[in-house]
Amino acid sequence: MSQHPLVIAIDGTSASGKSTNAKLVARDLGYVYVDTGAMYRTLSWYCLQKKVDVNDEKAVATACRKWKTALECIDKKVRLTVDGYYPEKEIRTEAVTAAVSHVSAVPKVREWMKNKQRECIKFGNLVMEGRDIGSNVFPETDFKFYLDACPDERTKRRAAEGVKENVVMRDQRDSQRSTSPLMISLGAHVINNSKMTSAETSGLILAEIKKRLAQPRR
Ligand code: DC
Repeated sequence: MSQHPLVIAIDGTSASGKSTNAKLVARDLGYVYVDTGAMYRTLSWYCLQKKVDVNDEKAVATACRKWKTALECIDKKVRLTVDGYYPEKEIRTEAVTAAVSHVSAVPKVREWMKNKQRECIKFGNLVMEGRDIGSNVFPETDFKFYLDACPDERTKRRAAEGVKENVVMRDQRDSQRSTSPLMISLGAHVINNSKMTSAETSGLILAEIKKRLAQPRR
C-alpha cells in the first residue's frame, strides 16, 4: 500500500459512461467515489435558487465565494452540501443542466472547485470523474482515463435516463472554455465505448489499473 492516497481520474464527454464506470471501478477497488459534475451542478442549482444570473460571471463568482458548503463522505461517496443540504434530485433537472456549462466556465468557480476537489483526498483513495481531473485537478496522478462514445449513442443513453439533451452542444461549450477545458490529458488511456457494455468498459479500466499497480511505483 502506498503512503499517499491514489487518485483514479476518469474524464470524458457528456453521457460517455463516466458515472456508471467510475462507480463500478470505485466499488471493485474499495475506493471513494467523487462526482465533480455534481459539484458544478450544485453551484448552478444554488445560483438558480438565489436568482443569480448564470450568464453574469461576476455574480456567479461572488455566489461561489459566499456560499456555505461542506464536504461529506457517506458510504464511500463524497457529496457537497449547501447550508447542510444535499440537493441530490434537484441538480438533475433540465434547468440545472442548461445552466451548468455557463457556471462551470467561470475561472473563479473552477479555482474554487479545484481546491475542494483536491481536499477530497482526506477521505482516502479516490475515483474522481469529471472533465479536467487528469489535466487540471490531479495532473500528478499516473491513473488517467478518458471516455468517449459517438454522439448518437450518447444521446440514446441520455434519453434512456429520461433526459433530452444536446450532448454535442454541451461538449462544445465544455471544450471551448478558456479555463481548464475538456481535453484528453497527456498519458490518458482513451476508451471509446460506443459498442461496449459498462461491464466491459469498467473491466478494461480495472485491468489497466491493476496492471499498473503491480508495477514498481516511481
Ligand atoms: O458530468 P456532468 O454532466 O454532471 O457535468 C455537469 C457539467 O459540469 C458539465 O457540462 C461540465 C461541468 N464539469 C466541468 O466543467 N468540470 C468537471 N470536472 C466536471 C463537470
